[in-house]
Amino acid sequence: MIIGNWKCNGSNEMIVSWCADYDRELNGNDAYVAVAPPSIYFSKFNSENKLSNIVGWGAQDVDHLDGSRTGAISVDMLVDTECGFSIIGHSERRQIFNEDNSLIREKLKSLNKRIMTILCIGEAKEENDKGITKDVLKDQLEIVNGLELDTEFTVAYEPVWAIGSGLTPEPKDINEIHKYIKDVVQSNSENNLSPKVLYGGSVTDKNAESFFKEEFVDGALIGGASLDGSTYAKIVNIFNGIDK
Ligand code: PGA
Repeated sequence: MIIGNWKCNGSNEMIVSWCADYDRELNGNDAYVAVAPPSIYFSKFNSENKLSNIVGWGAQDVDHLDGSRTGAISVDMLVDTECGFSIIGHSERRQIFNEDNSLIREKLKSLNKRIMTILCIGEAKEENDKGITKDVLKDQLEIVNGLELDTEFTVAYEPVWAIGSGLTPEPKDINEIHKYIKDVVQSNSENNLSPKVLYGGSVTDKNAESFFKEEFVDGALIGGASLDGSTYAKIVNIFNGIDK
């Protein structure tokens, strides 16, 4: 699974060139591939995408309620757009918009079994330096406790210090953390689900292969490198070329 997170980037012009570039570069595809444009561009993305190769689309975030909540987009609205997934818990939402675990759990509960959820978790640099990465991730994963999770529930492991920095953990360390995440979710969820785990943080067409080769890396969540259609297609090509 390869997911592109465009964050607050994109324009009508960018979407036209993105789809053309992606189509040109792609060698065929058998994985689930999608991007999360700003939701206001869903229909533009879709209309260009139909002329191009098939790429799914989804949301960067969602609100767990509806009604008098200016600026919010609800789960029902996402269902109406027929989008394929929603990201929740991205570190930028946690830091800039002060989202905490209890709010993210509400989002997870409202999406669960309706829209595929991609839950982002990750430790800060200081936490990594202190050697408490697993403790931090375990705390963030508490939000699945006692929930019967949708079988498509997915986690994205995104060390905060790796996002947009050009820095990444070693592939073998990512692999170990992914195994840990699968084990924690499996033991804490009601239905003992072992989720797919994506790696995110400075993934490019240059380093993607080293991550994809690892046993417990089920794909990637890609920010900056997803903004260029041909670079994104190159990463998808690499993913499709790995035989695991
Ligand atoms: P990046 O972002 O690929 O630009 O590091 C990843 C993310 O924030 O999801």
